[in-house]
Amino acid sequence: MENNITDIIKKAEELVFCFKKEIDNINDLKDIGLIRTKYMGKKGLFTSLLRSLNELNKDKKALAGKALNNMKKEVEEKINFHHELLRNKLLNDKLKKERIDITLPGRPINQGGVHPISKTMDEIISILGTLDFNVEEGPHIEDDYYNFTALNIPEYHPARQDHDTFYMNGSKKKKLLRTHTSPIQIRVMKEKKPPIKIIAPGNTYRCDDDATHSPMFHQIEGLVIDKNISMANLKWTIKELLTAFFNVKELPMRFRPSYFPFTEPSAEVDIGCSVDSGKLIIGKGKDWLEVLGCGMVNPKVFDNCNINTEVYNGFAFGLGVERFAMLKYGITDLRMFYDNDHRWLKHYSFKPTGFPNILKGIL
Ligand code: DAH
Repeated sequence: MENNITDIIKKAEELVFCFKKEIDNINDLKDIGLIRTKYMGKKGLFTSLLRSLNELNKDKKALAGKALNNMKKEVEEKINFHHELLRNKLLNDKLKKERIDITLPGRPINQGGVHPISKTMDEIISILGTLDFNVEEGPHIEDDYYNFTALNIPEYHPARQDHDTFYMNGSKKKKLLRTHTSPIQIRVMKEKKPPIKIIAPGNTYRCDDDATHSPMFHQIEGLVIDKNISMANLKWTIKELLTAFFNVKELPMRFRPSYFPFTEPSAEVDIGCSVDSGKLIIGKGKDWLEVLGCGMVNPKVFDNCNINTEVYNGFAFGLGVERFAMLKYGITDLRMFYDNDHRWLKHYSFKPTGFPNILKGIL
C-alpha cells in the first residue's frame, strides 16, 4: 500500500504537472467542467489522493495534508482563473463577430408621411381619373413658344407681364421655366389627334415670393377636345370635381366671366362658403371663394395646333394645387408647404398607406 509520505507528495506533484499541461490546452467552457470533475470531483484524481492520507499516521498525515491542501488550492485557483479567462475570450470573440456600425443611419419606423400637396394632387388625379381623364406631363424648362405664343399670348401681350417669368440666360430659343401647366395642352394637341381628355399636373414657376406666392408652386391643367363640346360639359366636370374633392353634397358654384388669352369665353369659378367662429366651411353660405380658371378653347389655339375648328371644339381649366390644399386642410400660410418644419409636416402629412380612392371616399 502506498503510504510513504514522499511518494504521496511526489504523486501529487505529478498530478499537478499533468493538470497544468491539460488545462492550458482547454479552449471550451465545457472542458473546464470536465477537468474539474477529473481532478476535484468526488472520485477525482486529487480527491482520491487526499483520501489515501487516511492511511498515514497522525503526524505524517498532518504534514502531507498541508502540502496537498496547498496544491489542491493551487489547482482550484487555476481552474477558476482559466474558467474566467476563457469566458471573457469567448465573449469578446462573440462581440467582435456581432459588431454593428452604430454610425450607420437608423431605419425610422412610421416616421414619413405624404405631403399635403402630394395628397391633394393624388386626390384630384383620382377624381378626374374616374371621369376618364389621362395624365400627361411636359418639361419644366419650356420654349417661349409653348408657354406663351401658341397659347395666344404673343410678344408684347400684357398677359406676359402678369407671369413674372424666369428666363434662362443665353438660350437662343428663349427658354424659360414654365409659368403654368397650360403649355402641356399645346404639346398634347400637337402630338395626339382628338378626341383628347387629359389632365396635366406639375410644378410651375414664377418670380414671386411673399406670404401668398411661392417661386415654385403646383397646378393641374385639364383639356377636353371632341365634337360638340359645350360649356355645359365643362360645368358638369367642374361640379363633379369640386363636390367630390370638398366632400360636400350641395356646392353652390358661380361661373364669373373672366379673361384668359387661350380660352374664349373664359370664366373663373367661385364656390359657396361661410365662416363660422374663424373656421372656413365650404358649401352653402353667403360668401364666395374663387377656386379655378376655365373656358372654351380659343379657336386661335386650335389653329396653332392644326386642329380643325369646323369639326372640333373643347374646354380647358387650370387650378392651383396649393390653394386647393389650403382650403381643404385648413392651412393658412402658403410658405409652410416648403419650410420642411418637422412639427408642421407631422401634423399636416398623411399616412403613406391611405391612397385616395373615389369609391371608398376621398377623405
Ligand atoms: N394658365 C392659367 C394660369 O396659370 C390658368 C388657366 C385658366 C388654365 C384658364 C386654363 C384655363 O386651362 O382654361 O393662371
